Amino acid sequence: MKIGFIGAGKVAQTFARYFLQHGHEVVLSNSRGPESLDNLAKTLGPKARAASVQEAADQELVILAVRWPQAEQALAQVPDWNGRILVDATNRPLDQDATRTASEVIADYAPGARLVKALNTLVVDWIEDDADPKPELVLFLSGDDAEAKQKLAAVLQPGFFPVDLGGLVAGGKLQQFGGPLSGLHLDLIKQLKF
Ligand SMILES: NC(=O)c1ccc[n+]([C@@H]2O[C@H](COP(=O)([O-])OP(=O)(O)OC[C@H]3O[C@@H](n4cnc5c(N)ncnc54)[C@H](OP(=O)(O)O)[C@@H]3O)[C@@H](O)[C@H]2O)c1
Repeated sequence: MKIGFIGAGKVAQTFARYFLQHGHEVVLSNSRGPESLDNLAKTLGPKARAASVQEAADQELVILAVRWPQAEQALAQVPDWNGRILVDATNRPLDQDATRTASEVIADYAPGARLVKALNTLVVDWIEDDADPKPELVLFLSGDDAEAKQKLAAVLQPGFFPVDLGGLVAGGKLQQFGGPLSGLHLDLIKQLKF
């Protein structure tokens, strides 16, 4: 699959490497334009390329990996998602108004997207720890579109063990920053780290 990234920082690079290792192609973008990412794309290899935010957002599956205050501006560049899958990997800081779940806010910024909340629960430093053999990591995801969740779950295996928490609002409350499943590192041999 071709996987786009809005944001090319720590989270994007970690998951880009993972997807490349498993045969996918990645398209990375940031606010400064593709030239600023050429070196990174070269380092990642021939199946990685740098592009504009719009081009990254044109891919079949797109990961939103910007910081929370950057999300509205980043998504404003994509007027209509036409049913493409957007994975919200962001974490909303706890001091923000939490009347609605974080992903409901992101959904407002991304009209027409099939939104899945995922990848936000794992601390990247922990994912990058290459203990060998490394157990599969449980990875929570939530969303209202079953097919979108299945497609994401498919590209996260092997390596991760996706656990569907249900709809965007109910699941989002559990896995968003401050929720009981946020920052929970659970592997399949039931080792817990906080
Ligand atoms: N770090 C973790 O362990 C972890 C784990 C799970 C989830 N998260 C969440 O994942 C998100 C990303 O975290 P991170 O650690 O990867 O942050 P980061 O390293 O600061 O990366 C943010 C990226 O977003 C880009 N960006 C900023 N404004 C943009 C815009 N308007 N349009 C497009 N791209 C833009 C930045 O590049 P330019 O400034 O060059 O545009 C940068 O590449 C955050 O919401 C974080 O809470 C973090």
